[in-house]
Amino acid sequence: MINPGRPRNQSRSTRSMPFSGLEYADPKKKGNLVGKILLAAALTALCIIMLKQSPSFNTTNVFSKHEQGVTHVLVTGGAGYIGSHAALRLLKDKYRVTIVDNLSRGNLGAVKVLQELFPEPGRLQFIYADLGDAKAVNKIFSENAFDAVIHFAAVAYVGESTLDPLKYYHNITSNTLVVLESMAAKGVKTLIYSSTCATYGEPEKMPITEETPQVPINPYGKAKKMAEDIILDFSKNSDMGVMILRYFNVIGSDPEGRLGEAPRPELRDHGRISGACFDAARGIINGLKVKGTDYSTADGTCVRDYIDVNDLVDAHVKALERAKPSKVGIYNVGTGKGRSVKEFVEACKKATAATIKVDFEPRRPGDYAEVYSDPTKIRRELNWTAKHTDLQESLEIAWRWQKAHRDGYGST
Ligand SMILES: NC(=O)c1ccc[n+]([C@@H]2O[C@H](COP(=O)([O-])OP(=O)(O)OC[C@H]3O[C@@H](n4cnc5c(N)ncnc54)[C@H](O)[C@@H]3O)[C@@H](O)[C@H]2O)c1
Repeated sequence: MINPGRPRNQSRSTRSMPFSGLEYADPKKKGNLVGKILLAAALTALCIIMLKQSPSFNTTNVFSKHEQGVTHVLVTGGAGYIGSHAALRLLKDKYRVTIVDNLSRGNLGAVKVLQELFPEPGRLQFIYADLGDAKAVNKIFSENAFDAVIHFAAVAYVGESTLDPLKYYHNITSNTLVVLESMAAKGVKTLIYSSTCATYGEPEKMPITEETPQVPINPYGKAKKMAEDIILDFSKNSDMGVMILRYFNVIGSDPEGRLGEAPRPELRDHGRISGACFDAARGIINGLKVKGTDYSTADGTCVRDYIDVNDLVDAHVKALERAKPSKVGIYNVGTGKGRSVKEFVEACKKATAATIKVDFEPRRPGDYAEVYSDPTKIRRELNWTAKHTDLQESLEIAWRWQKAHRDGYGST
């Protein structure tokens, strides 16, 4: 380094030189130096050992490498209702799990529950990221060795989608594209995609099979259908194994009470029937409003197919196990049995043991009378059937969690 303050004629020995100590064979100084080098080496070694033993060091290493006998699954939206239940099941089944979520709708509390249950290095990691950020997503795929992706992350309320369609088209289609591009770039072999019965719209014939024409009628259903089309077109020239699961109405929660459904309070108006029922049981809302009692159904109210979340995640695990390179499987995930809104409300009253005021009102425009699945294909090809088909029991389990978590995950 040049020292601008040194006169030109200054002797070498007085120059400020970083290695000056090496120029003298002074035994005392040499002893000091050797001691210092040894100390530095010992400290460095100690640091490396400590770093290697820290969970984060191991975690980073383990997640970035494929390991024989271990399937590493990226669960997008794993902080949400279905995604967190799926992550729990995958972890129980010895999968390695990475959750990516922007927490726009999900709960960090759910991730914490999972982390406490599976604290061992290399089991679960959480990455806070928005799937709309292609750079961030590419980085995640570059730094992690995924074997499969289950793409749950999405905004998912029919009513909200009609008020803010662009949000839905963007979040559902564009984010799926980003995930798919990263998967293709890194050669990730399996994709399980969360689709919905809303892609069918208002079919004339019940039950709904996978061959029923998809004519969605709201932006949510349309965007999901677009995402399916993107995936299907891509898969024509790819060796990726793809499973598209079209869920019906999801209810219930973990029977051991570790996870539950905790949507944002501001989404209450767009909420699903089970959320409304629990809110009414708690007195947060002033009873339930049943819209339409003159449909051509057994009791005049709408009929839907309610699938327990534990059965739903079981379908995902079966789909994951049976996905094959270059093959696409499309499956309805429902019980095959329709339940009327009146039946649901009665089951809810019994499950919560609450007095729930019910008002019967005229039909809501856009609601269709009956929607239920034909689950023959998934039973035949994936050996899956719904086991938790007692509506009241599913609601009792969900209600237990709701009662114990009055502020959702905020109170845990
Ligand atoms: N709940 C149902 O009845 C139902 C029915 C059919 C299909 N589905 C589908 O299942 C999936 C999961 O639904 P859910 O009920 O668990 O919803 P949820 O809102 O509880 O979970 C969705 C998760 O995705 C995350 N997310 C949303 N946008 C994101 C983004 N841009 N980047 C990263 N994370 C993002 C949210 O924060 C949330 O944690 C969705 O794809 C939904 O369309 C749900």
